[in-house]
Amino acid sequence: MSRFRLLFFLLFALSACGLLAAQEPANTPRVKRTPSYTAQGADACLRCHSGDKMRAIAASPHGKAENPHTPAAGQGCESCHGPGSIHVSRAHGGAGFPPLTSFGRGSGVSPREEQLRSCLACHAQKETATEIIEFIGSAHDRRTINCSSCHSVHVEFDAMRDREQQLATCIRCHRRHLEEHPRFEDKSIDFDALACATCHDVHSASSLADRAMDMGQ
Ligand code: HEC
Ligand code: HEC
Ligand code: HEC
Ligand code: HEC
Ligand code: HEC
Ligand code: HEC
Repeated sequence: MSRFRLLFFLLFALSACGLLAAQEPANTPRVKRTPSYTAQGADACLRCHSGDKMRAIAASPHGKAENPHTPAAGQGCESCHGPGSIHVSRAHGGAGFPPLTSFGRGSGVSPREEQLRSCLACHAQKETATEIIEFIGSAHDRRTINCSSCHSVHVEFDAMRDREQQLATCIRCHRRHLEEHPRFEDKSIDFDALACATCHDVHSASSLADRAMDMGQ
Protein backbone atom coordinates (compact mmCIF):
# COMPACT_ATOMS: atom_id res chain seq x y z
CA MET A 1 0.00 0.00 0.00
CA SER A 2 2.79 2.40 0.92
CA ARG A 3 4.40 1.72 -2.48
CA PHE A 4 1.14 2.72 -4.08
CA ARG A 5 1.13 5.95 -2.08
CA LEU A 6 4.71 6.65 -3.03
CA LEU A 7 3.83 6.19 -6.67
CA PHE A 8 0.82 8.44 -6.23
CA PHE A 9 3.00 11.07 -4.57
CA LEU A 10 5.57 10.86 -7.34
CA LEU A 11 2.91 11.23 -9.98
CA PHE A 12 1.46 14.20 -8.15
CA ALA A 13 4.89 15.78 -7.78
CA LEU A 14 5.63 15.30 -11.45
CA SER A 15 2.38 16.83 -12.60
CA ALA A 16 2.92 19.76 -10.22
CA CYS A 17 6.30 20.35 -11.85
CA GLY A 18 4.61 20.30 -15.22
CA LEU A 19 2.08 22.84 -14.04
CA LEU A 20 4.78 25.08 -12.65
CA ALA A 21 6.70 24.93 -15.90
CA ALA A 22 3.59 25.87 -17.82
CA GLN A 23 2.97 28.83 -15.52
CA GLU A 24 6.48 30.20 -15.79
CA PRO A 25 6.35 33.80 -16.94
CA ALA A 26 6.91 34.10 -20.66
CA ASN A 27 10.06 36.21 -20.29
CA THR A 28 12.25 33.29 -19.24
CA PRO A 29 14.40 32.33 -22.20
CA ARG A 30 13.28 28.70 -22.03
CA VAL A 31 9.78 29.46 -23.28
CA LYS A 32 10.07 30.89 -26.76
CA ARG A 33 6.92 32.30 -28.25
CA THR A 34 6.67 33.76 -31.69
CA PRO A 35 4.81 37.05 -31.73
CA SER A 36 1.85 37.34 -34.06
CA TYR A 37 -0.14 40.30 -35.34
CA THR A 38 -2.85 41.41 -32.92
CA ALA A 39 -6.43 40.96 -34.00
CA GLN A 40 -7.47 44.50 -33.02
CA GLY A 41 -4.93 46.33 -35.21
CA ALA A 42 -4.12 49.90 -34.21
CA ASP A 43 -6.68 49.83 -31.39
CA ALA A 44 -4.49 47.32 -29.56
CA CYS A 45 -1.70 49.91 -29.51
CA LEU A 46 -3.64 53.15 -29.12
CA ARG A 47 -4.86 52.06 -25.70
CA CYS A 48 -1.41 52.85 -24.34
CA HIS A 49 0.29 54.88 -27.08
CA SER A 50 -2.44 57.45 -27.42
CA GLY A 51 -0.62 60.77 -27.74
CA ASP A 52 -1.16 63.24 -30.60
CA LYS A 53 1.93 61.93 -32.37
CA MET A 54 0.42 58.45 -32.49
CA ARG A 55 -2.94 59.70 -33.76
CA ALA A 56 -1.39 61.97 -36.40
CA ILE A 57 -0.51 58.95 -38.50
CA ALA A 58 -4.19 58.31 -39.20
CA ALA A 59 -4.32 61.61 -41.16
CA SER A 60 -1.12 60.85 -43.11
CA PRO A 61 -0.89 58.88 -46.38
CA HIS A 62 -0.14 55.77 -44.27
CA GLY A 63 -3.53 56.14 -42.60
CA LYS A 64 -5.61 56.08 -45.79
CA ALA A 65 -7.29 52.68 -45.61
CA GLU A 66 -8.94 53.20 -49.01
CA ASN A 67 -5.50 52.52 -50.49
CA PRO A 68 -5.15 48.73 -50.03
CA HIS A 69 -1.35 48.99 -49.77
CA THR A 70 -1.22 51.28 -46.73
CA PRO A 71 -0.48 50.11 -43.20
CA ALA A 72 -4.02 51.26 -42.31
CA ALA A 73 -5.45 48.71 -44.73
CA GLY A 74 -3.01 46.05 -43.50
CA GLN A 75 -1.61 45.41 -40.04
CA GLY A 76 -1.84 49.02 -38.86
CA CYS A 77 0.96 50.07 -36.52
CA GLU A 78 2.38 46.56 -36.74
CA SER A 79 2.97 46.90 -40.50
CA CYS A 80 6.01 48.97 -39.55
CA HIS A 81 6.75 48.03 -35.95
CA GLY A 82 6.33 44.27 -36.40
CA PRO A 83 3.95 41.76 -34.82
CA GLY A 84 3.04 42.98 -31.34
CA SER A 85 1.08 40.22 -29.60
CA ILE A 86 3.75 39.54 -26.98
CA HIS A 87 4.54 43.23 -26.52
CA VAL A 88 0.86 43.89 -25.80
CA SER A 89 0.25 40.94 -23.47
CA ARG A 90 3.42 41.60 -21.47
CA ALA A 91 2.77 45.30 -21.31
CA HIS A 92 -0.55 44.43 -19.69
CA GLY A 93 1.03 41.87 -17.37
CA GLY A 94 3.84 44.25 -16.44
CA ALA A 95 6.39 41.55 -17.31
CA GLY A 96 8.64 43.71 -19.47
CA PHE A 97 8.27 44.89 -23.02
CA PRO A 98 10.06 42.97 -25.72
CA PRO A 99 11.22 45.60 -28.20
CA LEU A 100 9.31 46.04 -31.40
CA THR A 101 11.09 47.56 -34.38
CA SER A 102 12.04 51.07 -33.31
CA PHE A 103 13.36 53.66 -35.73
CA GLY A 104 16.00 56.36 -35.70
CA ARG A 105 19.68 56.51 -34.90
CA GLY A 106 21.85 55.85 -31.91
CA SER A 107 21.47 53.38 -29.09
CA GLY A 108 18.13 51.95 -28.12
CA VAL A 109 16.82 51.61 -31.67
CA SER A 110 16.64 48.54 -33.88
CA PRO A 111 19.53 47.66 -36.21
CA ARG A 112 19.59 49.76 -39.38
CA GLU A 113 18.94 46.73 -41.63
CA GLU A 114 15.79 45.89 -39.68
CA GLN A 115 14.55 49.47 -40.04
CA LEU A 116 15.23 49.59 -43.77
CA ARG A 117 13.61 46.20 -44.31
CA SER A 118 10.47 47.39 -42.60
CA CYS A 119 10.00 50.41 -44.90
CA LEU A 120 11.28 48.81 -48.08
CA ALA A 121 8.97 45.82 -47.66
CA CYS A 122 6.35 48.14 -49.18
CA HIS A 123 8.35 50.90 -50.82
CA ALA A 124 10.69 48.76 -52.91
CA GLN A 125 7.89 46.62 -54.37
CA LYS A 126 6.14 47.44 -57.63
CA GLU A 127 2.94 45.87 -56.31
CA THR A 128 2.62 48.13 -53.28
CA ALA A 129 4.38 51.42 -54.01
CA THR A 130 3.40 54.28 -56.28
CA GLU A 131 7.07 55.10 -56.75
CA ILE A 132 9.81 52.52 -56.24
CA ILE A 133 12.27 53.67 -53.59
CA GLU A 134 15.59 52.06 -54.53
CA PHE A 135 17.78 53.42 -51.77
CA ILE A 136 20.03 50.33 -51.43
CA GLY A 137 23.22 51.22 -53.28
CA SER A 138 22.42 54.93 -53.48
CA ALA A 139 24.77 57.67 -52.26
CA HIS A 140 22.77 57.88 -49.03
CA ASP A 141 22.90 54.15 -48.34
CA ARG A 142 25.47 54.58 -45.56
CA ARG A 143 25.79 53.23 -42.06
CA THR A 144 24.92 56.62 -40.57
CA ILE A 145 21.85 57.35 -42.72
CA ASN A 146 18.45 55.67 -42.80
CA CYS A 147 14.92 56.66 -43.80
CA SER A 148 14.41 58.51 -40.52
CA SER A 149 17.37 60.81 -41.28
CA CYS A 150 15.01 62.68 -43.60
CA HIS A 151 11.46 61.39 -43.04
CA SER A 152 9.10 61.43 -40.09
CA VAL A 153 6.04 59.29 -40.38
CA HIS A 154 4.22 60.15 -37.15
CA VAL A 155 3.11 63.43 -38.66
CA GLU A 156 0.26 64.44 -40.91
CA PHE A 157 2.57 65.91 -43.57
CA ASP A 158 5.99 64.55 -44.32
CA ALA A 159 8.65 67.25 -43.94
CA MET A 160 10.20 66.30 -47.29
CA ARG A 161 7.07 67.59 -49.05
CA ASP A 162 7.78 71.06 -47.74
CA ARG A 163 10.52 72.95 -49.60
CA GLU A 164 11.82 74.83 -46.56
CA GLN A 165 11.88 71.84 -44.25
CA GLN A 166 13.47 69.77 -46.97
CA LEU A 167 16.19 72.38 -47.52
CA ALA A 168 16.84 72.55 -43.77
CA THR A 169 17.26 68.77 -43.70
CA CYS A 170 19.61 68.62 -46.69
CA ILE A 171 21.89 71.38 -45.48
CA ARG A 172 22.34 69.69 -42.13
CA CYS A 173 24.84 67.61 -44.10
CA HIS A 174 25.36 69.65 -47.28
CA ARG A 175 25.69 73.19 -45.93
CA ARG A 176 28.29 74.21 -48.47
CA HIS A 177 25.89 73.52 -51.36
CA LEU A 178 23.77 76.51 -50.33
CA GLU A 179 26.59 78.94 -51.10
CA GLU A 180 28.51 77.13 -53.77
CA HIS A 181 26.59 74.43 -55.52
CA PRO A 182 28.74 72.81 -58.24
CA ARG A 183 27.93 73.95 -61.79
CA PHE A 184 25.90 76.88 -60.48
CA GLU A 185 28.82 78.83 -58.98
CA ASP A 186 28.21 81.81 -61.22
CA LYS A 187 24.42 81.90 -61.45
CA SER A 188 23.68 80.49 -58.00
CA ILE A 189 20.45 78.51 -57.67
CA ASP A 190 17.40 80.29 -56.27
CA PHE A 191 16.57 77.98 -53.39
CA ASP A 192 13.48 80.04 -52.59
CA ALA A 193 12.06 78.74 -55.83
CA LEU A 194 13.65 75.33 -56.32
CA ALA A 195 13.64 72.46 -53.86
CA CYS A 196 16.72 70.27 -53.79
CA ALA A 197 14.48 67.37 -54.83
CA THR A 198 13.47 69.22 -57.99
CA CYS A 199 16.80 68.09 -59.41
CA HIS A 200 17.82 65.24 -57.10
CA ASP A 201 16.12 61.92 -56.41
CA VAL A 202 18.07 61.15 -53.27
CA HIS A 203 16.91 57.50 -53.18
CA SER A 204 18.27 56.63 -56.55
CA ALA A 205 21.73 55.40 -57.42
CA SER A 206 21.55 57.45 -60.61
CA SER A 207 20.14 60.49 -58.82
CA LEU A 208 22.22 63.17 -60.42
CA ALA A 209 21.97 62.01 -63.99
CA ASP A 210 18.19 61.47 -64.11
CA ARG A 211 16.53 64.54 -62.74
CA ALA A 212 19.27 67.07 -63.26
CA MET A 213 19.70 65.96 -66.87
CA ASP A 214 15.96 66.20 -67.42
CA MET A 215 16.37 69.85 -66.52
CA GLY A 216 18.65 70.19 -69.53
CA GLN A 217 21.93 70.22 -67.63
C1 HEC B 1 4.76 53.82 -41.68
C2 HEC B 1 5.37 53.11 -40.59
C3 HEC B 1 4.82 53.32 -39.19
C4 HEC B 1 3.53 53.14 -38.78
C5 HEC B 1 2.30 52.71 -39.59
C6 HEC B 1 3.52 53.42 -37.35
N1 HEC B 1 4.77 53.78 -36.94
FE1 HEC B 1 5.36 54.21 -35.06
N2 HEC B 1 7.15 54.86 -35.72
C7 HEC B 1 7.58 54.77 -37.02
C8 HEC B 1 8.82 55.52 -37.16
C9 HEC B 1 9.62 55.68 -38.44
C10 HEC B 1 9.12 56.06 -35.88
C11 HEC B 1 10.29 57.00 -35.50
C12 HEC B 1 9.77 58.42 -35.32
C13 HEC B 1 9.15 59.03 -36.56
O1 HEC B 1 9.61 58.77 -37.69
O2 HEC B 1 8.19 59.81 -36.45
C14 HEC B 1 8.06 55.59 -34.98
C15 HEC B 1 7.99 55.83 -33.62
C16 HEC B 1 7.08 55.21 -32.76
C17 HEC B 1 7.17 55.15 -31.32
C18 HEC B 1 8.28 55.73 -30.48
C19 HEC B 1 7.89 57.14 -30.25
C20 HEC B 1 9.00 58.02 -29.85
O3 HEC B 1 8.69 59.11 -29.37
O4 HEC B 1 10.14 57.66 -30.07
C21 HEC B 1 6.05 54.49 -30.86
C22 HEC B 1 5.67 54.19 -29.42
C23 HEC B 1 5.26 54.15 -32.03
N3 HEC B 1 5.93 54.58 -33.16
C24 HEC B 1 4.04 53.52 -31.99
C25 HEC B 1 3.18 53.43 -33.07
C26 HEC B 1 1.75 53.18 -33.00
C27 HEC B 1 0.98 52.98 -31.72
C28 HEC B 1 1.28 53.17 -34.29
C29 HEC B 1 -0.16 53.00 -34.77
C30 HEC B 1 -1.09 54.01 -34.31
C31 HEC B 1 2.42 53.38 -35.16
N4 HEC B 1 3.55 53.56 -34.39
C32 HEC B 1 2.39 53.36 -36.55
C33 HEC B 1 6.95 54.09 -38.04
C34 HEC B 1 5.59 53.74 -38.03
C1 HEC C 1 -0.46 47.99 -22.16
C2 HEC C 1 0.26 49.13 -22.73
C3 HEC C 1 0.88 48.96 -24.12
C4 HEC C 1 0.30 48.49 -25.27
C5 HEC C 1 -1.12 47.95 -25.44
C6 HEC C 1 1.30 48.66 -26.31
N1 HEC C 1 2.44 49.19 -25.80
FE1 HEC C 1 4.13 49.69 -26.85
N2 HEC C 1 5.07 50.20 -25.14
C7 HEC C 1 4.47 50.21 -23.89
C8 HEC C 1 5.48 50.61 -22.91
C9 HEC C 1 5.24 50.78 -21.41
C10 HEC C 1 6.69 50.81 -23.64
C11 HEC C 1 8.04 51.21 -23.10
C12 HEC C 1 8.10 52.68 -23.09
C13 HEC C 1 9.44 53.17 -22.70
O1 HEC C 1 10.30 52.39 -22.32
O2 HEC C 1 9.62 54.38 -22.84
C14 HEC C 1 6.38 50.58 -25.05
C15 HEC C 1 7.29 50.76 -26.07
C16 HEC C 1 6.96 50.72 -27.43
C17 HEC C 1 7.82 51.10 -28.53
C18 HEC C 1 9.22 51.67 -28.40
C19 HEC C 1 10.22 50.61 -28.74
C20 HEC C 1 10.23 49.50 -27.71
O3 HEC C 1 9.75 48.41 -28.08
O4 HEC C 1 10.66 49.72 -26.59
C21 HEC C 1 7.13 50.88 -29.69
C22 HEC C 1 7.62 51.11 -31.10
C23 HEC C 1 5.82 50.39 -29.30
N3 HEC C 1 5.75 50.30 -27.94
C24 HEC C 1 4.83 50.07 -30.19
C25 HEC C 1 3.64 49.46 -29.86
C26 HEC C 1 2.72 48.89 -30.81
C27 HEC C 1 2.92 48.90 -32.32
C28 HEC C 1 1.66 48.39 -30.10
C29 HEC C 1 0.46 47.65 -30.64
C30 HEC C 1 0.76 46.37 -31.28
C31 HEC C 1 1.93 48.64 -28.69
N4 HEC C 1 3.14 49.27 -28.58
C32 HEC C 1 1.07 48.32 -27.64
C33 HEC C 1 3.16 49.91 -23.58
C34 HEC C 1 2.25 49.39 -24.46
C1 HEC D 1 2.39 48.41 -45.47
C2 HEC D 1 3.13 49.15 -46.48
C3 HEC D 1 3.98 50.34 -46.04
C4 HEC D 1 4.99 50.36 -45.10
C5 HEC D 1 5.48 49.23 -44.21
C6 HEC D 1 5.55 51.69 -45.14
N1 HEC D 1 4.88 52.46 -46.06
FE1 HEC D 1 5.27 54.37 -46.55
N2 HEC D 1 3.62 54.44 -47.76
C7 HEC D 1 2.87 53.33 -48.10
C8 HEC D 1 1.83 53.75 -49.05
C9 HEC D 1 0.81 52.83 -49.70
C10 HEC D 1 1.97 55.15 -49.23
C11 HEC D 1 1.10 56.06 -50.10
C12 HEC D 1 1.84 56.56 -51.28
C13 HEC D 1 2.58 55.50 -52.06
O1 HEC D 1 1.94 54.59 -52.61
O2 HEC D 1 3.83 55.58 -52.14
C14 HEC D 1 3.13 55.55 -48.43
C15 HEC D 1 3.66 56.83 -48.38
C16 HEC D 1 4.88 57.16 -47.81
C17 HEC D 1 5.54 58.46 -47.90
C18 HEC D 1 4.99 59.69 -48.62
C19 HEC D 1 4.36 60.56 -47.59
C20 HEC D 1 3.72 61.80 -48.15
O3 HEC D 1 3.48 62.73 -47.36
O4 HEC D 1 3.41 61.83 -49.33
C21 HEC D 1 6.71 58.37 -47.22
C22 HEC D 1 7.75 59.45 -47.02
C23 HEC D 1 6.80 57.03 -46.67
N3 HEC D 1 5.67 56.32 -47.05
C24 HEC D 1 7.84 56.57 -45.89
C25 HEC D 1 7.84 55.35 -45.21
C26 HEC D 1 8.83 54.96 -44.23
C27 HEC D 1 10.01 55.81 -43.82
C28 HEC D 1 8.47 53.70 -43.80
C29 HEC D 1 9.17 52.86 -42.73
C30 HEC D 1 9.27 53.49 -41.42
C31 HEC D 1 7.27 53.32 -44.50
N4 HEC D 1 6.92 54.34 -45.35
C32 HEC D 1 6.61 52.11 -44.36
C33 HEC D 1 3.03 52.05 -47.64
C34 HEC D 1 3.92 51.66 -46.63
C1 HEC E 1 18.62 62.06 -47.73
C2 HEC E 1 17.23 62.24 -47.37
C3 HEC E 1 16.29 61.05 -47.61
C4 HEC E 1 16.44 59.76 -47.21
C5 HEC E 1 17.60 59.16 -46.44
C6 HEC E 1 15.25 59.05 -47.63
N1 HEC E 1 14.41 59.92 -48.29
FE1 HEC E 1 12.59 59.47 -49.04
N2 HEC E 1 12.39 61.37 -49.78
C7 HEC E 1 13.33 62.38 -49.62
C8 HEC E 1 12.88 63.56 -50.34
C9 HEC E 1 13.63 64.87 -50.43
C10 HEC E 1 11.62 63.24 -50.91
C11 HEC E 1 10.73 64.17 -51.72
C12 HEC E 1 10.90 63.88 -53.18
C13 HEC E 1 10.07 64.79 -54.02
O1 HEC E 1 9.27 65.55 -53.50
O2 HEC E 1 10.25 64.67 -55.22
C14 HEC E 1 11.35 61.86 -50.55
C15 HEC E 1 10.20 61.17 -50.93
C16 HEC E 1 9.89 59.88 -50.49
C17 HEC E 1 8.66 59.18 -50.78
C18 HEC E 1 7.51 59.73 -51.61
C19 HEC E 1 7.77 59.37 -53.04
C20 HEC E 1 6.66 59.83 -53.94
O3 HEC E 1 6.89 60.82 -54.62
O4 HEC E 1 5.60 59.20 -53.93
C21 HEC E 1 8.74 57.96 -50.20
C22 HEC E 1 7.71 56.87 -50.25
C23 HEC E 1 10.04 57.88 -49.55
N3 HEC E 1 10.70 59.07 -49.75
C24 HEC E 1 10.48 56.78 -48.85
C25 HEC E 1 11.75 56.64 -48.31
C26 HEC E 1 12.24 55.43 -47.68
C27 HEC E 1 11.44 54.16 -47.52
C28 HEC E 1 13.50 55.68 -47.26
C29 HEC E 1 14.48 54.73 -46.60
C30 HEC E 1 14.73 53.49 -47.34
C31 HEC E 1 13.82 57.06 -47.64
N4 HEC E 1 12.74 57.60 -48.27
C32 HEC E 1 15.02 57.72 -47.39
C33 HEC E 1 14.48 62.30 -48.88
C34 HEC E 1 15.00 61.14 -48.30
C1 HEC F 1 22.54 62.75 -42.65
C2 HEC F 1 23.34 63.45 -43.62
C3 HEC F 1 22.72 63.72 -44.98
C4 HEC F 1 21.52 64.31 -45.25
C5 HEC F 1 20.44 64.76 -44.26
C6 HEC F 1 21.46 64.46 -46.68
N1 HEC F 1 22.59 63.96 -47.25
FE1 HEC F 1 23.07 63.93 -49.25
N2 HEC F 1 24.76 62.89 -48.87
C7 HEC F 1 25.23 62.58 -47.61
C8 HEC F 1 26.46 61.83 -47.76
C9 HEC F 1 27.31 61.32 -46.61
C10 HEC F 1 26.68 61.68 -49.15
C11 HEC F 1 27.83 60.95 -49.84
C12 HEC F 1 29.10 61.77 -49.78
C13 HEC F 1 29.00 62.98 -50.61
O1 HEC F 1 28.83 62.85 -51.83
O2 HEC F 1 29.11 64.09 -50.05
C14 HEC F 1 25.60 62.39 -49.82
C15 HEC F 1 25.50 62.52 -51.19
C16 HEC F 1 24.56 63.30 -51.83
C17 HEC F 1 24.53 63.57 -53.26
C18 HEC F 1 25.49 63.05 -54.29
C19 HEC F 1 24.82 61.91 -54.99
C20 HEC F 1 25.68 61.10 -55.91
O3 HEC F 1 25.09 60.33 -56.67
O4 HEC F 1 26.91 61.23 -55.84
C21 HEC F 1 23.44 64.37 -53.50
C22 HEC F 1 22.97 64.91 -54.82
C23 HEC F 1 22.80 64.61 -52.21
N3 HEC F 1 23.52 63.95 -51.23
C24 HEC F 1 21.67 65.38 -52.04
C25 HEC F 1 20.97 65.47 -50.84
C26 HEC F 1 19.70 66.13 -50.72
C27 HEC F 1 18.95 66.78 -51.84
C28 HEC F 1 19.34 66.02 -49.40
C29 HEC F 1 18.06 66.50 -48.74
C30 HEC F 1 16.83 65.93 -49.28
C31 HEC F 1 20.39 65.30 -48.70
N4 HEC F 1 21.37 65.00 -49.63
C32 HEC F 1 20.39 65.03 -47.34
C33 HEC F 1 24.64 62.92 -46.41
C34 HEC F 1 23.41 63.50 -46.25
C1 HEC G 1 18.66 73.20 -60.60
C2 HEC G 1 18.92 71.83 -60.26
C3 HEC G 1 19.55 71.56 -58.92
C4 HEC G 1 19.11 71.94 -57.67
C5 HEC G 1 17.88 72.77 -57.33
C6 HEC G 1 20.02 71.36 -56.73
N1 HEC G 1 21.01 70.66 -57.38
FE1 HEC G 1 22.53 69.62 -56.51
N2 HEC G 1 23.28 69.15 -58.37
C7 HEC G 1 22.71 69.50 -59.56
C8 HEC G 1 23.58 69.06 -60.65
C9 HEC G 1 23.33 69.27 -62.13
C10 HEC G 1 24.70 68.43 -60.04
C11 HEC G 1 25.89 67.79 -60.73
C12 HEC G 1 27.06 68.71 -60.69
C13 HEC G 1 28.26 68.10 -61.37
O1 HEC G 1 28.41 66.88 -61.34
O2 HEC G 1 29.03 68.85 -61.95
C14 HEC G 1 24.45 68.47 -58.60
C15 HEC G 1 25.32 67.96 -57.64
C16 HEC G 1 25.04 67.92 -56.28
C17 HEC G 1 25.84 67.21 -55.28
C18 HEC G 1 27.03 66.31 -55.54
C19 HEC G 1 28.12 67.02 -56.24
C20 HEC G 1 29.23 67.44 -55.34
O3 HEC G 1 30.27 66.75 -55.39
O4 HEC G 1 29.11 68.40 -54.60
C21 HEC G 1 25.26 67.44 -54.08
C22 HEC G 1 25.71 66.89 -52.74
C23 HEC G 1 24.11 68.30 -54.30
N3 HEC G 1 24.02 68.57 -55.64
C24 HEC G 1 23.30 68.76 -53.29
C25 HEC G 1 22.24 69.63 -53.49
C26 HEC G 1 21.46 70.18 -52.41
C27 HEC G 1 21.67 69.94 -50.94
C28 HEC G 1 20.50 70.96 -52.98
C29 HEC G 1 19.51 71.86 -52.29
C30 HEC G 1 20.08 72.81 -51.35
C31 HEC G 1 20.70 70.89 -54.44
N4 HEC G 1 21.76 70.06 -54.69
C32 HEC G 1 19.91 71.52 -55.35
C33 HEC G 1 21.52 70.16 -59.72
C34 HEC G 1 20.76 70.76 -58.72
